[in-house]
Amino acid sequence: MRDGYKGTGPGAITPDGCAVELYSRLPVGNEPEVIAEAVPAGAHILELGSGVGRVTHALLERGFTVTAVDESAEMLERVRGARTICSPIEDLALAETFDVVMLASFLVHNGDVELRRRMLRACARHVAKGGCVLIQREGEDYHSNVPRERVDPSGFTIRIVSDEPVGDGVHSVRAEYDFPDAVWTQTFRSRPLTKDQFEEALAEAGLRVERYLTEDRMWVRAVPVTE
Ligand SMILES: C[S@@+](CC[C@H](N)C(=O)[O-])C[C@H]1O[C@@H](n2cnc3c(N)ncnc32)[C@H](O)[C@@H]1O
Repeated sequence: MRDGYKGTGPGAITPDGCAVELYSRLPVGNEPEVIAEAVPAGAHILELGSGVGRVTHALLERGFTVTAVDESAEMLERVRGARTICSPIEDLALAETFDVVMLASFLVHNGDVELRRRMLRACARHVAKGGCVLIQREGEDYHSNVPRERVDPSGFTIRIVSDEPVGDGVHSVRAEYDFPDAVWTQTFRSRPLTKDQFEEALAEAGLRVERYLTEDRMWVRAVPVTE
């Protein structure tokens, strides 16, 4: 397990505390729409931290080509119709570039600044000339509106049960996913980032925000600074 991360519940758990069975059950949200509106039709997307392909599969259905990267082989085993690469994002060094590189699921909020730097540099080195990097940030109230819960129409409840500062600007967050027949929890580390801090982190990796794609500024289209 990665330091500060933990998962409980049935089935395999990834080093960052995600449950493979849970992610196989979670429905896709508005991600495919946001992505489709921000990138050219048919683009080749490098999806970093794809999990079981919750978003991947919806992107394939929309006609995109996807290369899915995850450090969990158990997650990747469930991806269908996309090329998969089992690797830590921060170590990825493919001999090719992509129209779109995607770093979703709030991975940019990693508590370890050096690890975040390496992940953002991996985004920058895999984006093709004229391409873009799509990043998903946390919502503004993620660390203040706690506890909170949402009942999903498909029949489960997601709760953020606690959010505690653990020093150096990092929080330990505990999420609970309550299904009628099973409960999963994930404890993970997160570093809240203001808009300025986020943009500085991108700049360090040679990226700049081209535009915020959603009103809540959670989805971002970034491009290499050289363009
Ligand atoms: C919260 S899950 C989200 C999965 C998928 N993006 C989704 O929305 O359904 C995070 C995924 O990222 C992977 N992951 C987290 N940190 C990683 C890293 N540094 N390198 C590679 N994979 C990572 C985990 O194994 C897990 O599958």
